[in-house]
Amino acid sequence: MSLTLAERVSAIAPSATLAMAGAAKRLKAEGVDVFDFALGEPDFKTPENIQEAALKAMRSGQTHYTPPSGIPELRQALAKMYSETRGLPTQDVQVVVSNGAKHSIHNALMAVCGPGDEVIIPAPYWVSYADLVKLTGATPVVLQTTEANEFKLTPEQFLAAVTPRTKLLMINSPSNPTGVVYTRAELEALADAVLKSDQVGVLSDEIYEQLLYGDAEATCFATLRPGLADRTITISGVSKTYAMTGWRIGWSIAPTPVAKFMGDIQSQETSNPCSVSQWAALEAITGPQDSVVAMKSQFTKRRAYVLERIAALPDVTCIAPGGAFYAFMNISAHLGRTLGGKVIGDSTEFCLTALSSAHVALVMGSAFGAEGYARLSFATDLTTLERGFDALERFLRH
Ligand SMILES: Cc1ncc(COP(=O)(O)O)c(C=O)c1O
Repeated sequence: MSLTLAERVSAIAPSATLAMAGAAKRLKAEGVDVFDFALGEPDFKTPENIQEAALKAMRSGQTHYTPPSGIPELRQALAKMYSETRGLPTQDVQVVVSNGAKHSIHNALMAVCGPGDEVIIPAPYWVSYADLVKLTGATPVVLQTTEANEFKLTPEQFLAAVTPRTKLLMINSPSNPTGVVYTRAELEALADAVLKSDQVGVLSDEIYEQLLYGDAEATCFATLRPGLADRTITISGVSKTYAMTGWRIGWSIAPTPVAKFMGDIQSQETSNPCSVSQWAALEAITGPQDSVVAMKSQFTKRRAYVLERIAALPDVTCIAPGGAFYAFMNISAHLGRTLGGKVIGDSTEFCLTALSSAHVALVMGSAFGAEGYARLSFATDLTTLERGFDALERFLRH
């Protein structure tokens, strides 16, 4: 007899972004010059002051287990940061530091969702949301937004989807994959809709809060209305802002009983997040921020360049991202056409053919719940972007 899988995992798909990045890596290993625009991680090195803090922590013996929810110094610093700069009065006990924001989201969902519950997710959504919800036994309820409405969920759409089983609404602004940033007024309207029901909570993923362009502004959802903080779990982390994807530090700010339960879950799952990385994250958020300004200025230039190149691509459109480092290209005009010698049926075929023919790695919109699109990450240097766009343009014009 062979081992059978638990029913819980049978619905789980591996991360599509990582799968596309894997396919790009395999081509690279064969010696092919691949333009990798698939993975959502800054290409910059983690700033020196953060690396130094990690070395110092290691050398001074901070290499042991830490409290499950994180070292007190980091929890305190985060509580201070949210209280003073986000307008969200936060106590240390509300902060749980985890192994990346993805892990924070997992802990949050495990703490509040289970079989029979529904979680509302506006599409396009970050690839992991639906699978993380399924892992808890709850059901993702995906609401399609439209490009015409800048991929924003409306209060009417949300209210029409609420049932007695709705447990959570997941919000992500700035958004991966679209880069869309809700205005404060739009989020306030959603907050009012949420507060109409007694049982619906919110998971607000604010991981791209510092990567903003033009007049886009970050909004901490939990602060928008009195009482909202009691039903909102705020998620963020150091991966994107400080080019620290490999250090695996994210956090959540939750109502105290939820935070306690999330810490208990984490203590059984992983004991604690990496001790050295926690000290590095402390330096990231409390140390000098000039490297963040420098990285943002690079992203700003790349975004302008990418938008210019997309505008020149045949039959491809894209709404300008207000935040994050993605361009979500509408490639639907190419479906049904022949590209690279193949008839392109959907966004997966589009991306696979772009990879095999033009050596450009993108992620198919279907992975984000939006067929007819392809996501391009501009967390890559300008020279690679230029060469990659030349290849993509040739591929589309052929
Ligand atoms: C919207 C969103 N949330 C969370 C994460 C997870 O980040 P972390 O590296 O902290 O786990 C990502 C990473 O791609 C993301 O795009």
